[in-house]
Amino acid sequence: MKIERFELERWMTRWELEVDYDICESGILPMSLGELCSLIDPAAASELERQVMTMPQAYSEARGTLALRSALAESYTDVTPDDILVTTGAIEANFLIFNALLNPGDHVVAVSPAYQQLHSVPRAIGTEVDLWDVVADGGGFAYDVDRLEALVRPDTRLIVINTPHNPTGAILDSAQLDRVLDLARERDTWVLSDEAYRWLEHPGGEKLVEPARNRYEKAVSVGTMSKPFGMPGLRIGWFAANQELANRAWSLRDYISLSPSKISDAVAKVAIEHREAILPRNGKIMRENLDFARTWFAVHADLASWSEPKAALLAMMKYTAPVDSTILADRLAKEARVMLAPGSAFGLEGYLRIGIGQRQDLFAEGLRRTGDFLEGLR
Ligand SMILES: Cc1ncc(COP(=O)(O)O)c(C=O)c1O
Repeated sequence: MKIERFELERWMTRWELEVDYDICESGILPMSLGELCSLIDPAAASELERQVMTMPQAYSEARGTLALRSALAESYTDVTPDDILVTTGAIEANFLIFNALLNPGDHVVAVSPAYQQLHSVPRAIGTEVDLWDVVADGGGFAYDVDRLEALVRPDTRLIVINTPHNPTGAILDSAQLDRVLDLARERDTWVLSDEAYRWLEHPGGEKLVEPARNRYEKAVSVGTMSKPFGMPGLRIGWFAANQELANRAWSLRDYISLSPSKISDAVAKVAIEHREAILPRNGKIMRENLDFARTWFAVHADLASWSEPKAALLAMMKYTAPVDSTILADRLAKEARVMLAPGSAFGLEGYLRIGIGQRQDLFAEGLRRTGDFLEGLR
């Protein structure tokens, strides 16, 4: 398979160990096992500790343990553990779904801009990919389903959506999701719904629509421990589809990663079961960073603006300095030790991607330094 360079990953890898203020991360502040145990009920915490210390490090159940798949299945409606495949992060889930569903020459419509995998993998398979632009409408970035309707064809094999959206923070509301699914249903088209940002509602903010798999039998909902649980290091993701697709993807996975790590599977199960005790931690981080960012953008209105994320963690910052985003992002990283991802990695020149999931003091200092730096460019 010949595949395009993953621009954002390459850029992040170049700088992530050299900066002090990474304020473009795509996930919520990572959590230790100690913090997880402090948030959940003590009996469950000591049972998890016991398990982690005593379980033999054998291969695990290839599809993910029945216990984890059962906990995940309960978070959807009409989904059984057999309809779920646990994967090495959402990235493997997406990769397997594309490869299980697509053949060269198929027609795909994918949201744009996007987490680059959502375009690059179907292109590498040899499909024809039309891009559904999330449009900047003055009040922020927004989905426009009329535009999708103009792109789908009778033979469209797959529609790729991502809500809440990386990198703009746009969301599909319930009526919009229904329209997308109706367009798919009418054409017997599959929908890959990348829900990596599920469960990341802002306190007092917009409610997130339920997973697409709950509403359409050919929708595949992809989830992960990385973003809402701050545990990307577990490398646990999954998808909820139907048993046939889960089995097809499982057969591919036999050649790639074989099975999840046993420890990761056990930790993920506990976190999923106790998510109500964990999610308020994220709400507090997002709330405080949002408040700080709102004030910062108000003060620096002549240097930068943003369309606030409707949910979850990511948004695009539009800057006024007449400089390419890659050059600006490199200079910010090198000279101010601040990491804001270049819009060029998403095809959005004149923007930087910002993430509101990080430690509040680092986020605030990162933005202060960004303000000073942009001021110095005048
Ligand atoms: C939209 C989206 N999907 C999938 C992934 C992959 O996440 P992971 O493999 O860590 O679960 C990411 C990571 O940034 C993402 O933003």
